[in-house]
Amino acid sequence: MVEFRPYHPEDRDAVGTIWHEVGWSDRSDESKVEALDALISAGGIEVAEVNGAAECFVQQVPGDITHTGTNLSMSAVTAVLTSHIGRKMGLATTLSARAIAAGARQGAAVSLLGVFETGFYDRLGFASGSYEHELTFDPATLALENVEYKRPERLTLDNADEMHAAMLGRNRPHGSSTLTPLSLVTAELGWMSGMWALGYRTDGRLTHFMAGTAESDRSYRPYFVAYETLPQLLDLLRLVKELGDQLQWFTIVEPPEIQLQDLIRGPMRQIRHAKGTSVRAHRAKAHWQLRINDLDAVVGAIDWPGEPVRFNLDVSDPIANFGVGWEGVSGNYTVTIGSPSGIEVGATSGLPTLTSQVGPLSRILFGVQHPSTLAAIGDLSGPAELLAGLDRALQMPVPHPGWDF
Ligand SMILES: CC(C)(COP(=O)(O)OP(=O)(O)OC[C@H]1O[C@@H](n2cnc3c(N)ncnc32)[C@H](O)[C@@H]1OP(=O)(O)O)[C@@H](O)C(=O)NCCC(=O)NCCS
Repeated sequence: MVEFRPYHPEDRDAVGTIWHEVGWSDRSDESKVEALDALISAGGIEVAEVNGAAECFVQQVPGDITHTGTNLSMSAVTAVLTSHIGRKMGLATTLSARAIAAGARQGAAVSLLGVFETGFYDRLGFASGSYEHELTFDPATLALENVEYKRPERLTLDNADEMHAAMLGRNRPHGSSTLTPLSLVTAELGWMSGMWALGYRTDGRLTHFMAGTAESDRSYRPYFVAYETLPQLLDLLRLVKELGDQLQWFTIVEPPEIQLQDLIRGPMRQIRHAKGTSVRAHRAKAHWQLRINDLDAVVGAIDWPGEPVRFNLDVSDPIANFGVGWEGVSGNYTVTIGSPSGIEVGATSGLPTLTSQVGPLSRILFGVQHPSTLAAIGDLSGPAELLAGLDRALQMPVPHPGWDF
């Protein structure tokens, strides 16, 4: 007997067991228990109850995502996990589908999540985001001698609210995302092993900081990186260089505003030296996925100053197959990509037609991939002339959420 329902406080023990079994939290470690409590307090949780106990846990929280300068409401699926005994009963799939529908009903134009593998969430209309470049390098080799070193302030869990505010107020390039609940920052800080956090204030306000994990004092990896301006990002990297006397390795997801290789001396040499060691000098992975829930809002955020591209869109959405009371974005629309861009419900005779599932459509509308590339690999279809026009009109910066969840 399976019941899908909202989380109740009485589920706390069973939920602790699920997190323990999955290896994401340790019941014997007080700080990890508190971190899970913090995550739970963010809300938006449903569980699948099997024979009287919660065996699957899915959380969805509000946030936003920037589309070329416009902030769109976003729903982040922050946790999906099934206990060892609940596996392969469709629990995670059903709860994830319900979470997406809940986010959409709350007004989220886009849903976002991190994946353990591609394929699982594709069944719900998600598709891969862009590559994130993770670099590991010797911090002493940062070529930042011309940037003045500023002594940072040590931050602790007590500063979680300020760190959250700095993440919300950080520079927001295309695709950058935020999560509204403060307690999710508290939870992440609590889970970090060897947590360190260092930052800077401007007029008393925390404007730029990094917080992350440490393996002794040899290897640091920030999880949160926030800054409002490029000089502030350089302050943070200059700080990393200063720690280079002791710190052997620094691992960071490349900030979208910069090509880190420009600031590293001998980057190729470091990659060669890392060969055959446990250090992975450079790793690229598209570990996040997105799906649009509100076509009107997403298309409306696109500003293409060139010749407008008008076409019929025939979109299908697999979320409709999951009986969650929300049919998704499937339908026929007339779309204009221009300045302004917009949609009208229904097709217009005489226009070329683009046929796509919501996942590939989400990728092209966020600039993850070119329409003609996705057509070539069979993910969508349309006349060559329309695809070429869309390749031009949908050129935009590579999206990066900048908040790992
Ligand atoms: C991933 C996880 C949540 C799945 O939970 P689950 O409740 O067993 O999942 P479901 O029963 O809903 O779905 C299982 C189905 O997905 C399919 N599936 C699994 N991985 C897939 C993939 N990469 N692509 C497509 N289908 C996939 C399975 O084959 C299975 O299909 P079947 O029912 O036809 O046999 C669970 O294994 C887990 O908790 N893992 C550890 C934590 C984790 O990684 N969570 C995900 C974070 S993004």
